[in-house]
Amino acid sequence: MAAKIALVTGSSGLIGSECVAFLDARGWRVHGVDNNMRRDFFGEHGDTTWNLERLRRETTSFEHHDLDIRDREGVARLFADERPELIVHAAAQPSHDLAASRPFDDFEVNAVGTLNLLEAARTQAPESPFVFLSTNKVYGDAPNELPLVELETRWDYADPDDYEGIDETCRVDMTMHSLFGASKLAADVLVQEYGRYFGMPTVCFRGGCLSGPRHSGAELHGFLAYLARAAAEGLTYRIFGYKGKQVRDNIHSYDVCTAVLAFAERPRSAAVYNLGGGRANSVSLVEAIARFEELLGTKLQTEYLDEARRGDHICYISDLARFRGDYPEWELSVSLDDLFEELAEAGRRFAGVAG
Ligand SMILES: NC(=O)c1ccc[n+]([C@@H]2O[C@H](COP(=O)([O-])OP(=O)(O)OC[C@H]3O[C@@H](n4cnc5c(N)ncnc54)[C@H](O)[C@@H]3O)[C@@H](O)[C@H]2O)c1
Repeated sequence: MAAKIALVTGSSGLIGSECVAFLDARGWRVHGVDNNMRRDFFGEHGDTTWNLERLRRETTSFEHHDLDIRDREGVARLFADERPELIVHAAAQPSHDLAASRPFDDFEVNAVGTLNLLEAARTQAPESPFVFLSTNKVYGDAPNELPLVELETRWDYADPDDYEGIDETCRVDMTMHSLFGASKLAADVLVQEYGRYFGMPTVCFRGGCLSGPRHSGAELHGFLAYLARAAAEGLTYRIFGYKGKQVRDNIHSYDVCTAVLAFAERPRSAAVYNLGGGRANSVSLVEAIARFEELLGTKLQTEYLDEARRGDHICYISDLARFRGDYPEWELSVSLDDLFEELAEAGRRFAGVAG
């Protein structure tokens, strides 16, 4: 039987590369699309060349395409040539903060690039599951309206009804998104629309913090990976407001892949799910710093700035109930402790401390 064909965008990035390796290991033929724009966005720390080289070494039927998803004709040609049976769209300008300084690049990559892919899929592969990596920033800062309580090392929800976190009914408008949140929301709504209007099997996974050792962590994106790297390399880490007690839920990129495959095997139309590490994998910034200091046996240099990042979440935990309800076979397999260990190891490697 011929191998099934997948197309993964952002294939040298964290989620894309994990999906390439994951699908390749399961016998898929995988076309990866990535132009290393992460380096252009974030400088040397964002360079993904090492990860592309690793994929080339470690996979058996992966083909890389140095293609920009803004290149509409190029995207259409690739779809016409390969007719993928699964599309995983993980290419993006992924930074909340960077977007304000590059508004056109942000919108053209995140929103228009997604439209290019959706249209190519509609004309060449309308039956193929289309998985979009969306973000919790589509909710803007509306999650900050929940009553919070300040604990010793973290903020938490004050109302027991909010314990499991934010679900998909959180409103998406009349809140501050950052330009990144706005461009991702445009893409998220387009992906839903290609599901509703055209009946295509599309899903938006609204990510909490997606993490893992394959992240080319940079100050402006890849919070835990960069933190580990800063601790290992002796860089100064800047904390923006909220006393460093802001909370994120973290999911290992491997567990994102199992969610993607669960959807691909039993797709629906216009699905929307929050996807993160949930309460079990939640951590505040100061808690994360303490853990890395312990694991790496070093003291992280920090600089505290009173002003929080605009539109930043104070306490964000993804409520996973909807996805778990529709895909009960899916479960988180990587604990927060294991994720920290993998990241500390990767931080050491980046710093050239380990062999
Ligand atoms: N990492 C997180 O914490 C997080 C959280 C929520 C949502 N997401 C979303 O998940 C997706 C994957 O995130 P990630 O952390 O793997 O990001 P990443 O930056 O590691 O990977 C994205 C990849 O896309 C590539 N890329 C950027 N612009 C491109 C273009 N125009 N054409 C082709 N390739 C291009 C980059 O070079 C990079 O390798 C993104 O859509 C992001 O918005 C990530």
